[in-house]
Amino acid sequence: MQNIDSITHVRGESIYLDDIPLQQETLFGAAFGSPIAHGKIIHLDISAAEKMAGVVRIFTYKDIPGDNQIGGIVPDEPLLAEDEVHFNGMPVAFVVAETNEIAQAAVKSITIDIEPLPVITDPREAKEKGKLIIPPRTFSLGNIDKAWKKCTHIFEGIAETNGQEHLYIETQGAYTIPQENDCIKVYSSTQGPTAVQRHMAAVLKIPMHRLEVDVTRLGGGFGGKEDQATAWAILCALATYHLKKPVKYCLHRMEDMRMTGKRNPYSSDFKIGLDKNLKIIAYEATFYQNAGAAADLSPAVLERTLFHCTNSYFVPNVKATAYCCKTNLPPNTAFRGFGGPQGMFVIEAAIAKAAEALGIDASEIQKKNLLKDGDEFPYGQKAESEAKNCWEEAEDIYEIKKLRKQVKKFNEENHLHKKGISFMPICFGISFTKTFMNQARALVHIYTDGSISVSTGAVEMGQGVNTKMAQVAATIFSLPLSKIKIHTTNTFRIANTSPSAASATADLNGKAVQMACINLMERLKPVAEKVLKQPCDKMRIEEGLVHIGNKKTELTWGNLIATAYMSRVNLSEHAHYAPPQVHFDPTIEKGHPFAYHVYGTAITVVTVDCLRGIYTFDAVKVVHDFGTTMNPVVDLGQIEGGIVQGMGWMTMEEIIYDKEGRLRSNALSTYKVPDIYSVPEEIKVHFLKTKKDNLAIFRSKAVGEPPLMYGIGAFFAVRNAIKAFHPSADVKFSAPITPEKVLMSLYPKKERSQTIKEAYHIL
Ligand code: MTE
Ligand code: HPA
Ligand code: MOS
Repeated sequence: MQNIDSITHVRGESIYLDDIPLQQETLFGAAFGSPIAHGKIIHLDISAAEKMAGVVRIFTYKDIPGDNQIGGIVPDEPLLAEDEVHFNGMPVAFVVAETNEIAQAAVKSITIDIEPLPVITDPREAKEKGKLIIPPRTFSLGNIDKAWKKCTHIFEGIAETNGQEHLYIETQGAYTIPQENDCIKVYSSTQGPTAVQRHMAAVLKIPMHRLEVDVTRLGGGFGGKEDQATAWAILCALATYHLKKPVKYCLHRMEDMRMTGKRNPYSSDFKIGLDKNLKIIAYEATFYQNAGAAADLSPAVLERTLFHCTNSYFVPNVKATAYCCKTNLPPNTAFRGFGGPQGMFVIEAAIAKAAEALGIDASEIQKKNLLKDGDEFPYGQKAESEAKNCWEEAEDIYEIKKLRKQVKKFNEENHLHKKGISFMPICFGISFTKTFMNQARALVHIYTDGSISVSTGAVEMGQGVNTKMAQVAATIFSLPLSKIKIHTTNTFRIANTSPSAASATADLNGKAVQMACINLMERLKPVAEKVLKQPCDKMRIEEGLVHIGNKKTELTWGNLIATAYMSRVNLSEHAHYAPPQVHFDPTIEKGHPFAYHVYGTAITVVTVDCLRGIYTFDAVKVVHDFGTTMNPVVDLGQIEGGIVQGMGWMTMEEIIYDKEGRLRSNALSTYKVPDIYSVPEEIKVHFLKTKKDNLAIFRSKAVGEPPLMYGIGAFFAVRNAIKAFHPSADVKFSAPITPEKVLMSLYPKKERSQTIKEAYHIL
């Protein structure tokens, strides 16, 4: 079954925020952001801007009726700067004008006098200076100090991953419309409608029930709209509150890139110890997370880095410590994988380093240490592992021996092109790591004509969750999809939602839909019994007719519903789902935080042009644990998109802030994301079928974030290809491994002229 949105997408009929027809008298907003990264505001001059024709009003923090605060985890983030600025682009004022062009022009004529304060962009420097957002956290297992003594081999090193721009195709934006009695209707491109509603209520000092947040769909979120959609919606609402006029603000791409946070960059130290059989005995890691200027979601991201610091491996002795470091960059935030990828990269680097020193292939160490059923994670949960199944199936169906031979032969025959292979196993925990967030609700109505409407807390952002919700309802009622309509995500219909995040949206909301539909079906059975005068506990619908078991009856679905209505049976149901079992105690850092884990293995093959440093990916071949997939087409799309997004992070997407904290890669001319030419020539996805009972809907497994981590394999494949050209090349564990970095590694400075001579000779 295809994605229910595909036809309107292709026709350009799908409604995004910017497609909502404007009401009369709509005004347009634009934010003025701090031109420098850190300093004391001496004077803000809005006088020239205020005088411009068409400018209606300029708002500052002084206009905020409630709390000037939007921090979700820690209250450390003002909506509008008061006397200090903490990052370049931090909103200071909000211009509202008659047109978008006037608003943008007015922003340019605002001036600000700021006394500069020292700017920190590096997380290690922040940690040195004691600038931590929360106290450090440590996960441990076994006894690390004793364990080192048992190791035959010990290796240490540094691994670094850069940030990543979300680059949702639809930029951040909101549209707020005044309603009677001081209510506001809010259209927001947000993954978290309730987050917008809650913070808006606090900033405006009005109760939440006056704020209706409505989301049709997003043109991508990828975590960037879990928390960071809030500010723009509240700025519009602040203006609507004062002016009683509709206000719209869709950020220009360059505003979005400059003012919003990204994936958290990390710098990390690792130490790994192995015994003589290549078993990992001990692993120690210290993570320095670049949180940016406010907590935002970084403390939760940090936690997930610790949860995933041993990836898909069992390590009996672990000590992992993480620092949430405050710098003067825009507050960094959720991004597909939510800190997990950053943690996994470090242990993969440690394994690569060990393999290199021991003169073996990293896959030998990887395979030996894969998680088995019952193995304990550093946070106490026991694994129900598919790690070996995925790995062995990948070796088998992708004929790894043959593949290795081909690569070896290619490398022997070619001197200026080298191929590299890598294995990337993944293990990703599904559930919000904050246990209370694991809850969802659904509201299902059956109308008197037999058509059904479904509302949930799930936000459609391209991941296909609405298609899955429709499938759940259609399956329980055994009705065709044409009878089911999934409605917008709306805080008046579904309250207190968790953001659509953590890959858990379909799991949580799908279960709530299932419960509501089952309850309705149960309620309809006695109605059918009355009409048919026979027991109806095996009732189902087929081709519009009530069937009892395999026997067709004369009763139509339409008549069943009409009879139920006439008999005053409730045809609406609201259900609440909270998965059992999950819990976590942060005081001891132990518990059972995840409903289950998703496993998989990717084999990546790359060809590096050793004269130019550029590379192309021949193939990424995956065995992925979908459980029992609900929708192979949608899930395949998630895997392909995740792989390419992860590869972009690892290879070409390079965020550059200068020492003053100014974003240099601030447009798509200077920030390169994968295009069709950077997509691997071949992406193969094999569905590992597992029959285990798990907590997800219809025994499927969540699929949104895990595939991003296959992209990590791209880094190590490129690294291996470089090593094939220059075995002693010192390739730093510093992602992204851009063509520039590849070139520098291929020709180390000391030997550069000699190697280049040789290369030219071959040419
Ligand atoms: N796929 C598309 N097309 N667009 C997105 O914004 N977000 C990803 C993933 N896949 C995203 C996506 C992220 S970060 C998450 S957490 C999940 O989808 C959220 O949706 P789910 O919980 O329904 O998987
Ligand atoms: N994942 C994604 N988003 C989140 C999480 C999580 O574990 N916790 C809070 N927001
Ligand atoms: Mo996804 S990073 O949990 O929105």
